[in-house]
Amino acid sequence: MVTTLVRHIGELTTNDPALGDATALGRLRDAALVVDESRVLWVGPDQRAPAADHVRDVAGAAVIPGFVDSHTHLVFAGERSAEFEARMAGRPYDGGGIAATVAATRAASLEDLRAASAQRLDQLRAGGVTTVEVKSGYELSVEGEVRLLGLARELTEEATYLGAHVVPREYEHRRDDYVALAAGAMLDACAPLARWADVFCDRGAFDRDEARTVLDAARRAGLAVRLHANQLADLGAVGLALEFDAASVDHCTHVSDHDVAALGDSSTVVTLLPGAEFCTRSPYPSARRFLRAGATVALATDCNPGTSYVTSMALIIALAVREMELSPDEALWAATRGGARALRREDVGHLGVGARADYVVLDAPRAAHLAYRPGAHLVLETNRAAR
Ligand code: NIG
Ligand code: FE
Repeated sequence: MVTTLVRHIGELTTNDPALGDATALGRLRDAALVVDESRVLWVGPDQRAPAADHVRDVAGAAVIPGFVDSHTHLVFAGERSAEFEARMAGRPYDGGGIAATVAATRAASLEDLRAASAQRLDQLRAGGVTTVEVKSGYELSVEGEVRLLGLARELTEEATYLGAHVVPREYEHRRDDYVALAAGAMLDACAPLARWADVFCDRGAFDRDEARTVLDAARRAGLAVRLHANQLADLGAVGLALEFDAASVDHCTHVSDHDVAALGDSSTVVTLLPGAEFCTRSPYPSARRFLRAGATVALATDCNPGTSYVTSMALIIALAVREMELSPDEALWAATRGGARALRREDVGHLGVGARADYVVLDAPRAAHLAYRPGAHLVLETNRAAR
């Protein structure tokens, strides 16, 4: 075991309410942290720091837990900037462009897909992400979804089966057959590779009954549930997510008061994706509304070529502060511990003793700079513990 003392931390956010100022952020000033290759061993005031094998003096910088990006579609080929330009000129998003990414992804070689996905993961990491969820959903065939999940597994332990992303063109007039495939042979082939199942339950994708069919089968196959819900319309997807005790319900752009209250009484996390509202020029949902109801809120990039080609969690935090009524501290928490809750993980998203030693040194004295200086490169180093 090799230990490292990270000292002279100007502002340390631990997200452990037992530490520091006893808020949800568990914040300390003039602090130090001792880690080994995998875990946090000690947290406290700098003057009381124990000796370690190595010392890293961060000279007053802020240190935060690594970001937990709990919603991405990192494995894809091609790009859709023309669709983005059309939206900026007023054309609404309807999910139709997904077919273009499916065609490009099907045509891509394994090596090209692997390289493109790894490059996007590198960008996330450079921006402070230490845990990432990655979905399939851009091949929509049995072999193709298996291929995407195989690549996702090379990137993360948090892989999600999204065979029910949209109905592919060749099933256009046989959607029941596609739902049966996504809940049958495709699921059987994919389940061993995934931890999660997700469905795009929305206008232009799958309705509530279709989504229920896939999620039911997925649960029987041993997968845990999360859901794309209410991005474009309210088809009752939030209620469906609650039926399945989903770990997370994602997007939540159009949600009724009734569903907000139900989420507040549940353990399902509301994952907000402000990159999607930004890139589709849509109204932002208020995170405050969910918090007021007692819900847990997470923030994620939703990195995908259609609705949110975003690989910066700092930008997501800035958008959530500016447009979703979160304070900088609430947004930081949502992008770290909130993301961990959305993945039902207790070992990441915080820097309490025993947590994974995933921490980020900022080129700033306070974490609030993440929202205060949008577009600046504020991540000095991302330290990700050995897995
Ligand atoms: O999370 N909404 C569904 N899936 C993606 C978008 C997919 C696409 O347009 O390629 C999302 O926004
Ligand atoms: Fe998504």
